Parts: sequence; structure tokens; C-alpha cells
Amino acid sequence: MPKYLVTGAAGFIGRSIAVALLARGESVRGVDSFITGKHANLVGLEAMEFVEGDLADPAVCARVCAGVEIVFHEAALASVPRSVADPASTNRNCIDATLNLLVAAKDAGVRRVVYAGSSSIYGETPTLPKHEEMLPAPITPYAVAKLAGEHYLSAFSRVYGMENVTLRYFNVFGPYQDPTSHYSGVLAIFCRKMLAGEQPTIHGDGEQSRDFTYIDNVVTANLLAAAAPAGKVAGRAMNLATGSAVSLNQTFDLLCGLTGYRGKPAYGEQRSGDIKHSLADIHLAQELLGYTPTVDFAEGLRRTVEWYRGQ
Ligand code: UD1
Repeated sequence: MPKYLVTGAAGFIGRSIAVALLARGESVRGVDSFITGKHANLVGLEAMEFVEGDLADPAVCARVCAGVEIVFHEAALASVPRSVADPASTNRNCIDATLNLLVAAKDAGVRRVVYAGSSSIYGETPTLPKHEEMLPAPITPYAVAKLAGEHYLSAFSRVYGMENVTLRYFNVFGPYQDPTSHYSGVLAIFCRKMLAGEQPTIHGDGEQSRDFTYIDNVVTANLLAAAAPAGKVAGRAMNLATGSAVSLNQTFDLLCGLTGYRGKPAYGEQRSGDIKHSLADIHLAQELLGYTPTVDFAEGLRRTVEWYRGQ
């Protein structure tokens, strides 16, 4: 029986965690519904036991949790604008799926679920950097769904003794992020377009900023969160980011240098539900997990552009 389950294993972050586990010689099961996951992302993961299924179905959750000790729960509809366009789907694939997974995990005796939380739960609060003692103030259906998942995780720790941990991701980017949907992350979209000589669109004035976090940092933190002493992390939520932010305009300039794109960006309407600035305080993850980011934004962006160039 595999020790680890990765949900969303055919997605960008799930795939990356599964690769790291397999490289360590671990036994891994993956599950994905392919709503946003890609078959191509499973190439290189042949040693993983794979189940195609939808976590909104409790029977799928029971099947994939059987015999597992640790779950990395990455499956989600990871898009703010998608949740604005279709909140019911986000609710189903984030809240229903997470609750079903937790029930199945508890019933199967899973020790710990490490959950992909989101910085979006902080909403528009002007305080920067965002720290974990701030009251969540979600302003989009996506943020509500991610926060509900977090609360379920900590409640399951409290009432059933699970060791669940939430990592609140701040704008993760890197190789394998899908650049093809208009719900894709901004860096994936910009890399693809600018390498192809196509003009990217900046929504708003481009002065919005993000704590863009390279995927390797996210994988490292997940492995640390799986191994951290329960007394430190059970039922807790913490930021996962780099602790520095850049604006979209600055990012566009950096990408011009890396991709060779010579044009200007188009400026469009600000997106509904968009947050102006996002920057994390990462001291709690440093204290509880021993986490420090190992790949900074510039190096991560360079590696990401090189990867898209090879695609
Ligand atoms: C992102 C994540 C979300 C995560 C959250 C917090 C994605 C797809 N979404 O939301 O899962 O929970 O961070 O970590 O990774 N933009 C443009 N042009 C484009 C696309 C986007 O200007 O073509 C702008 C957006 O308006 C926004 C910024 O880029 O201001 C970032 O957008 P996006 O990558 O979708 O991420 P978030 O909404 O911040």
C-alpha cells in the first residue's frame, strides 16, 4: 500500500510533489479528475499508482485513502476568476471534495493531510505583509472555498485527532503550470505569449504586486510539513511564499529580458475580485517547519522561461 496520496497529481503542483516523493524512493498514489489536470503531466510518474477519479464522489475518496498515511491535497479549481464565473463548480471541487476527502481520510486512519491553502483568504486587507494572526476576509468564491477547506482541516484535527496542516500558497509558478487557459496563472500566460512573440495583457495598471513563489520552494515546504512534529503543526495554517513581492510591470520588464519580447503590454480592465497587493510574512513557516525559500523570484523566472522555451 502506498504511504503517500497526492490529490491533483496530474496538475502542476501535485505533479511536482509526486516527483519529489518518488525521487526519495517513496511509494505514492495519485488521483486526478482531469478537470484541469493533464495526462501529459503524468509522464515521468510511471512509478506512481494512479487513479482517475473525482473527489466530489465519496467512493473515490474512500478508494484512494485506503492504506495511506499522509495526504498532500492539491486538487482544486485553482482560479479566482473561474470562481467568479462559476462559484458552484468551485464549491463542488474545493469544498465538497475537501470534506469528502477528509471524511475518507479519517475513516481510513490517515495520520496527516497537508492542504494547499491560499493567500486569497486575506482579501483586500491593507496590512502588509499578510501574517497568520490577521482575520481572514475572503472577497471571492475561490477564497471562501479555500478558507472553508482550511477550517475543515483544523476542525478534523481538533475533533478526530488528525495532524492536518494548511500551507497558504502565494502565487505559485514554475514548469508544468498550464499556460493555455485564460484562468491560468499570470506568469504561465506571459511566458507562453512572450516567447511566441504575442502581446500579453495586463489587467489594470500593472502596479498590483504578488509574492510569486517558485514551485521548488512549495515542494520543499510540503515535505517539511509532512515530517514536522505534530505538536508543532497539527491544526495549524501558515503562509508559504518568499517574503518579497514584485509588481506585474516589473515582472513584464524582467520577462522581456528573458524571452527577447520587444513589444509593450496591452493594458485592460482590472479583473473583478482582484487584490491589489499580496506579500507574505513567512516567519511562522520558518519557525514551525524550518522553511526558508531556496529559489528566489529571478532565478525561478529564469528556470521557468527556459522550461517553456523547450515546450
Ligand atoms: C493566484 C492563484 C490562486 C492562488 C492565489 C494566491 C493561479 C491561477 N491563481 O491568484 O490559486 O490561491 O494566487 O496565491 O495561480 N493578470 C494579468 N494578465 C493575465 C492574467 C492575470 O494582468 O493575463 C493579473 C491578474 O489580474 C492579477 C495577477 O495578474 O492581478 C495575478 O493573477 P493570477 O495569476 O490569476 O493569480 P491570483 O488571482 O493572484
